[in-house]
Amino acid sequence: MAGMVSKLVVVLVILAVHGACDTSGLDPNFYVNKCPTALEIVRSAVKKAVAEEARMAASLLRLHFHDCFVQGCDGSVLLDDNATFTGEKTAVPNNNSLRGFDVVDNIKTELENACPQTVSCADILAIAARDSVVLSGGAWWSVALGRRDSRSASLSGANQNLPAPNSTLQTLITKFKLQGLNQVDLVVLSGGHTIGMSRCVSFRQRLYGLNGDANPQNIDNNYLTNLKSGCPSSGGDSNLSPLDDVTPTKFDNDYLKNVQSLKGLLISDQILYTKGQSTKNIVDYYAGDELLFMKQFAESMVKMGNIKPRTGSHGEIRKNCRRMN
Ligand code: HEM
Ligand SMILES: *[C@@H]1O[C@H](CO)[C@@H](O)[C@H](O)[C@H]1NC(C)=O
Ligand SMILES: *[C@@H]1O[C@H](CO)[C@@H](O)[C@H](O)[C@H]1NC(C)=O
Ligand SMILES: *[C@@H]1O[C@H](CO)[C@@H](O)[C@H](O)[C@H]1NC(C)=O
Repeated sequence: MAGMVSKLVVVLVILAVHGACDTSGLDPNFYVNKCPTALEIVRSAVKKAVAEEARMAASLLRLHFHDCFVQGCDGSVLLDDNATFTGEKTAVPNNNSLRGFDVVDNIKTELENACPQTVSCADILAIAARDSVVLSGGAWWSVALGRRDSRSASLSGANQNLPAPNSTLQTLITKFKLQGLNQVDLVVLSGGHTIGMSRCVSFRQRLYGLNGDANPQNIDNNYLTNLKSGCPSSGGDSNLSPLDDVTPTKFDNDYLKNVQSLKGLLISDQILYTKGQSTKNIVDYYAGDELLFMKQFAESMVKMGNIKPRTGSHGEIRKNCRRMN
């Protein structure tokens, strides 16, 4: 335990030094004077939500990912549809799947009470993602802040940029590359699947081989049998299975070990190991060293969080995360 703590300290110092030469225009101290309680308000609200439901940590982490891959980290994912506006919530990867919007609303309400129109919805997502990882047992990182909220959203962007669970490995690599993320980022950020749940509809092809890249032959036999009992070949689309069957609510590197033993839940998880030598090597490397995984996860999250932020006079600080001012 003492060894683990000291290694973590080393990790944190390395991250702090990296943070000092950030080039995104964002700043970890952005709210220190503008809203000194901002970080604590988010942390305690996330803590309460995760205490009520452990899965909420996963849902909040995923919200930040789905925000950043569409127009950058700008809170676009949070905008509600109405008669004259179409946002991203009904995109295929999001519809009936994204959750945590009510938690974000609660955080925003508290922040508006403490510091009106000061803390953006995009920053709430970035901080909540970090706090969710820490509360689940992952490593802390310094979140650079100062993102502003978009005055637009993109349904087509959400459908095009977000990877599908049956994307080919080449498609996964390309979609990450388009966001400035490399294969290490792809594998390690996929390690976010160490927490949270998937619906049957997202992994049915993996169990029954209904499409070209679906591969029941690349799946552990007992795991396959167990999964089939909760996810029939038709019906039960919303039945849930954990993305990491070993420790479903703990942030650790078991996801990578699962993938090594052909127990990745999604096709997109398993093919990192079975369809490419370089991504396989990355899986093996981080499956073999949990602290290095935690450190790289934090680094890759910083990179993802820096995708195209609106700063300066671009965008706005929404009063309500669900609609533009
Ligand atoms: C590599 C490409 C990725 C694909 C194809 C993918 C796909 C998916 C799918 C299909 C689900 C289940 C959704 C459902 O059935 O409702 C899911 C859940 C999840 N994803 Fe990903 N994902 C990817 C990358 C990531 C990244 C980069 C992160 C974060 C760093 C992430 C975090 C999560 C989390 C935490 C959940 C569980 C959410 C919950 O329980 O509410 N994923 N993902
Ligand atoms: C989104 O989900 C709703 C509710 O299940 C459904 O009625 C609608 O057709 C879905 N929209 C899309 C675009 O898939
Ligand atoms: C992924 O699944 C969809 C819907 O089931 C299907 O139309 C598509 O062809 C599949 N793509 C691949 C690469 O298997
Ligand atoms: C619809 O949503 C847009 C974007 O959030 C917003 O600007 C507009 O005021 C909304 N319209 C209504 C009638 O609520």
